[in-house]
Amino acid sequence: MSISIRPFDGNFGAEVIGFDFETNGNEDTFQLLRDAWVEHAVICIRHQKIEPEFFLKLAKIFGEPIPQLINHKAFALPSHPVISVLSSGHVDTLGSGKPINRGGSWHSDHSNTPQPPSGTILHALQLPSQGGNTRFTNQTLAYENLSSDMKKKIEGLKAKHVYQSKYSTRKMPTRSKVDEAISPTSFHPIARTHPVTGRKAIYLNPVRTETIEGMNETDAQVLLDELLAHSAQDEFQYSHEWKSDDVLLWDNRQTMHMAAADSHLYDRERRMHRLMIKGDTPF
Ligand code: SIN
Repeated sequence: MSISIRPFDGNFGAEVIGFDFETNGNEDTFQLLRDAWVEHAVICIRHQKIEPEFFLKLAKIFGEPIPQLINHKAFALPSHPVISVLSSGHVDTLGSGKPINRGGSWHSDHSNTPQPPSGTILHALQLPSQGGNTRFTNQTLAYENLSSDMKKKIEGLKAKHVYQSKYSTRKMPTRSKVDEAISPTSFHPIARTHPVTGRKAIYLNPVRTETIEGMNETDAQVLLDELLAHSAQDEFQYSHEWKSDDVLLWDNRQTMHMAAADSHLYDRERRMHRLMIKGDTPF
């Protein structure tokens, strides 16, 4: 049986039907999956009742899985440390001990690293019966709908990405002093070119972007806020309503995402496994 790709009803994203590693896990199918990922920016592979070993195999279709950031080792799966566990029960172990809001505001993964992951993959293991969507913006559509003046204004500008922007309202997990000392800071273009499609996207991360090279911080924040408000318009958004055993993969080079911050609705733990795919230097 071959797979089929069905675009979601919303603005972007697609569902993959009929993928089964055992029966149609061959190079032709893998290429269809890679093409769908880049074309639709977010793809959902349904009905993946798979063990961590298979989740890892599935991720390798899209590239090389990268290790967790050191500060996230506390959240790694002991049997497969490259896989991260995202649980609504997690607390900030090195800080307040209080629940942490993981991923609960717009961001793009690990953008303070020199080569941020090209993709991120989540596998839904347990879901609450209400709430817990993951929302996405399509940063290519957002870029293409900028005015030509704004396109000119951001051409060549680079934003500074740090572990935790002092302007972010969401706090990242507290780190050890060792992790703080080796934390990377990177400068990345705001108008970023996708290495496969050649299309430009607005590359933002409000949790980590602190300023823009060659600009004062106040002006930089005004510009970054303006780009964020533009990107987060409904017409550029897709909200994923999870089903058990969904595997959801997105392209960090052309999206931002956030976990809907609605854990007050949960009637049980929301638990996911996460893998990230090695990326290139943004240009
Ligand atoms: C993330 O931001 O990586 C996780 C998103 C989610 O849990 O929905």
